[in-house]
Amino acid sequence: MSRFSYVNGRFLRHADASVSIDDRGFLFGDAIYEVWSVRSGTLLDAAGHFARLQRSLGELKIDLPLSLAALRLVIRELLRRNRVRDGLVYLEISRGAARRDHAFPPAGTPPTLVLTCKRIDFDAAGKRAETGIGIISVPDQRWGRCDIKTVNLLPNVLAKQAAREAGAFEAWLVDQAGLVTEGASSNAWILTQDGVLVTRPADHSILHGITRATVMRLAKAEGYAVEERGFSLEEAQSAREAFITSATTFVTPVVRIDDRPVGNGAPGSLAAHLRQAYLEAH
Ligand SMILES: Cc1ncc(COP(=O)(O)O)c(C=O)c1O
Repeated sequence: MSRFSYVNGRFLRHADASVSIDDRGFLFGDAIYEVWSVRSGTLLDAAGHFARLQRSLGELKIDLPLSLAALRLVIRELLRRNRVRDGLVYLEISRGAARRDHAFPPAGTPPTLVLTCKRIDFDAAGKRAETGIGIISVPDQRWGRCDIKTVNLLPNVLAKQAAREAGAFEAWLVDQAGLVTEGASSNAWILTQDGVLVTRPADHSILHGITRATVMRLAKAEGYAVEERGFSLEEAQSAREAFITSATTFVTPVVRIDDRPVGNGAPGSLAAHLRQAYLEAH
């Protein structure tokens, strides 16, 4: 079956889909992106991801090239054409294609919009939640606006590759004060020995994860204490539990950080509970 993607108003066979070599996403990383998980044909946390998309565009002064209602229809049609019921949708919007100049292109330059989707076997991914994942730590070398979901992901790419080479699933980025900011593509959490859930505040140093926000709401609704503050690797290693959240991994327990076990080295029960609660909330 052919795979279809969407570029600037047209559905194209994925193999034939392309953008200009003058595209500012390619030249400058002058672009934002968004990712939705799709389960049984439904976009998870759809409203949160659409809201973050609009915020990212607003922060960079890029216009959404179609209405949100039209975008929702395009996503639905993309999923239908690709027969994806379980998977993810990837969207990227750049400031468009123009003669190379660092400053913004002439007013009226149309943004570039690309949408792709792919299937994910969430059951296979769920096995990871049963065994738990290993984490390595690396210095956070990113810029000061990590809250904007831009395609400037080189530090994240290098961190994730370092994790893979070390046999770990994710890398946690550590700031100059020795506190964990977030994962290369996920938010970072611990459950302290006192039973408090801790995650970094949603300031400019992290991406404001949509899954993070939903899990926080669910945990608070169940009466768990949640503290938004930084934590060190040492605190995480001696925590009762640790886990990550993201649109595609939901809630996934961390059992090892830099070769030291977290808790008793087995996936934590609260992480498993929150994962279940997250999935049931959709
Ligand atoms: C750097 C980073 N932090 C956090 C997240 C989690 O965000 P969300 O829950 O919205 O997927 C992601 C997701 O890709 C990410 O790339």
